[in-house]
Amino acid sequence: MTNLTFRRPDDWHVHFRDGAVLQHVVPLTARQFARAIVMPNLAPPVTTAADAAAYRERILAALPPGVDFQPLMTCYLTDHTDASDLIAGFRDGIFTAAKLYPAHATTNSAHGVSSIDKIQAVLDAMAEFGMPLLVHGEITRREVDLFDREKYFIDEVLTPLLRRHPTLRVVMEHITTEDGAQVVASYPERMGATITPQHLLYNRNAMFEGGLRPHLYCLPVLKRRKHQLALRKAATSGLSNYFLGTDSAPHLRHLKEASCGCAGVFSAPVAIEAYLHVFAEENALDKFEAFASLNGPTFYKMAPNEERVTYTLTPGETVSNVKIDDAGELVSLFSGETPSWRALADALEPGK
Ligand code: DOR
Ligand code: ZN
Repeated sequence: MTNLTFRRPDDWHVHFRDGAVLQHVVPLTARQFARAIVMPNLAPPVTTAADAAAYRERILAALPPGVDFQPLMTCYLTDHTDASDLIAGFRDGIFTAAKLYPAHATTNSAHGVSSIDKIQAVLDAMAEFGMPLLVHGEITRREVDLFDREKYFIDEVLTPLLRRHPTLRVVMEHITTEDGAQVVASYPERMGATITPQHLLYNRNAMFEGGLRPHLYCLPVLKRRKHQLALRKAATSGLSNYFLGTDSAPHLRHLKEASCGCAGVFSAPVAIEAYLHVFAEENALDKFEAFASLNGPTFYKMAPNEERVTYTLTPGETVSNVKIDDAGELVSLFSGETPSWRALADALEPGK
């Protein structure tokens, strides 16, 4: 039997939403992770420290009794973000970071930043106080091919931004290309990147295998196999700039299986199992703890978790979907499949 014991991991990129969905998904993430960076793209978005403090309370209230979990809140940057509220929220420990959504790049991004020029003063303040900027790295100009949006973002937005703010610390969220992996490696002292399970498991062929697979549609969209392989190499390299961020993004089934379906892969129920599957395939289980439990805390200047969890290479139960009261259900990554790894029975019990 193969067992792997590692420090309890953190999820450096997750979507919890609000209301009934939040009630169901928070326990799933808290089961596997000690902390998570919670994305602010609610409708309306989380744009002030007061919004974030209230949202954090709603998340904590959804935790099952005895579960130890810390939500790390982010501010949704707009053209009108108030730098003093942002920095005060950061210094008070309400905000961990701020998220840049280029306007119209993805779910609930209509209030996002229309041009980086609008937030130069905010970025200067963030650099001064050491507050990390998290970027959704896609350009949204209509004439740019969907599969090239990340590369254009790097060339047209990210590189000038890094030059203009030489001390700003930046996470490129959910990198999907070799170019994304490379740019992060070029700024090792101040850049990080999260990598999702789906971008490691699949390439764009998977979205069209035998028909259209809406539950594998996310943004940035899955790319060519050469990019998938570059991401596998980055994640398993042991380099401290790459870390776990699921981008678990719940949307009700009927909103994904639609003529214009929402973007997002819901992976919270099986995130660790999915990453372990990839690391085992790459013969890199010895690098798993760095990716899942050490590199993120290093970037965010936080201590790694002390508790340990153990997973075993033994098939667990078939993955089922998550019913959201009468509203519908969330279709999980690996739905109907049996992952090759599972948590040892007591590893995920509350308080352990
Ligand atoms: O696929 C995605 N879904 N990508 C994002 O950037 C946002 C997310 C969501 O919130 O649904
Ligand atoms: Zn996301």
